[in-house]
Amino acid sequence: METQRLRFPEGFLWGAATAAFQIEGGAALRGPSIWDTFCRTPGKVHGGATGDMAVDHHRLWRQDVQLMARLGLGAYRFSVSWPRVLAGGIGFYDALVDELLSHGIRPSLTLYHWDLPQELEDAGGWPERETAYAFAGYTEQVAKVLGDRVEMWTTLNEPWCISFLGYGSGVHAPGRTSPADALRAAHHLNLAHGLAAAALPAAARVGISLNPSAVRPLTGSAADRDAQRRIDALANRIFTGPLLGGAYPQDLLADTASVTDWSFVRPGDEALIHQPMDFLGVNYYTPAVVSAAPDGAGPRADGHGATDHSPWPGADTVAFHQPPGDRTDMGWSVDPTGLYDLLMRFAREAPGLPLMVTENGAAYGPDLHDPQRIAYLEAHLTALHRAVADGAPVQGYFLWSLMDNFEWSYGYSKHFGIVHVDYETQERTPRSSAHWYARLARSGAL
Ligand code: NOJ
Repeated sequence: METQRLRFPEGFLWGAATAAFQIEGGAALRGPSIWDTFCRTPGKVHGGATGDMAVDHHRLWRQDVQLMARLGLGAYRFSVSWPRVLAGGIGFYDALVDELLSHGIRPSLTLYHWDLPQELEDAGGWPERETAYAFAGYTEQVAKVLGDRVEMWTTLNEPWCISFLGYGSGVHAPGRTSPADALRAAHHLNLAHGLAAAALPAAARVGISLNPSAVRPLTGSAADRDAQRRIDALANRIFTGPLLGGAYPQDLLADTASVTDWSFVRPGDEALIHQPMDFLGVNYYTPAVVSAAPDGAGPRADGHGATDHSPWPGADTVAFHQPPGDRTDMGWSVDPTGLYDLLMRFAREAPGLPLMVTENGAAYGPDLHDPQRIAYLEAHLTALHRAVADGAPVQGYFLWSLMDNFEWSYGYSKHFGIVHVDYETQERTPRSSAHWYARLARSGAL
């Protein structure tokens, strides 16, 4: 007997996601970004990998769009390279958008996926307020060319990683390790979102992709629940507070008072950040489990890379624990209940705000036959379906990633693609999961 299939709502978007630095290559036709510099800093990126070639999408883009069309994707999430736009290369995205539309694939554009122009970092980077204004200017430039055809706009991808991994723990570019700068960066990223959202054309559907943490206490003790509250403030409410509610949470300001006095938040900033939003993008991979670490020496198994510096300012009394469950190649536990919990939380906290899963997926070995990835995706989509049935207004799902690519400090050693890429020949070969996903995208039922 056939088991009951899970049907997704009419019009649900089935997409895949990538990001400029991770796939494009074509580095000679743009200025340097902080990731180019970071890649060239010895010991920062696995195997000394760079984004010079990546998976050569800057050359192979037409073929890649054809591949998406063959897979039946309804939408494609990509990012625009700010350094490429500065170098006069916006025509690349202009042509890409036309090609997507001609295949009936809806473009979902991310303005910033981590590749800050090096010159802006040299001027101080995200800890400086000016960077937010520069971002608004760049947004206007992109909107002028693509605003008539791109409907879905994501301002920033994972501002937590940009600020806390880039300026706090230093495992991401630009590799700085100042807790105060991490918090300044977070604020200026929020501000950048607000300024950009206000600069986009009225017809644009505007959102932001967060990587909210599904953070759980190790035990029900008051101390562990307080550790959960602290990490929830630093991982989630530092963004959703001003973005959705127009104010930073008081407990966050108190918890970090020894790190900074927050005087970089100027009167009116929080209102500026609090722009109308058309959807909230949720990137989800794995949950976090925390406890109190009374000796102040909490282990740093937070899934964000080994470092001597914590990405959690003011939270050195919190310990991170490996959550239960099988692990992917990243060492991240497979636990779809975290996705369900986050979607239900946002449905509750921001009633009526459409949600979009802008990233979800898993790294496994390079094999073409990848039943583990299919199982991961199936479990997470079942959780998403349950959230929809329970009232979460989820409108679409973007699988990370369309194809294997540059996985930041891990270089090319991790494979997130439903399409395998041979890094010698740049040949693309759909994995079993790609065929599986194509069937799902076509039928709208799991
Ligand atoms: C988060 C990022 O947005 C993306 O660039 C990265 O490759 C995936 N998650 C996997 O780590």
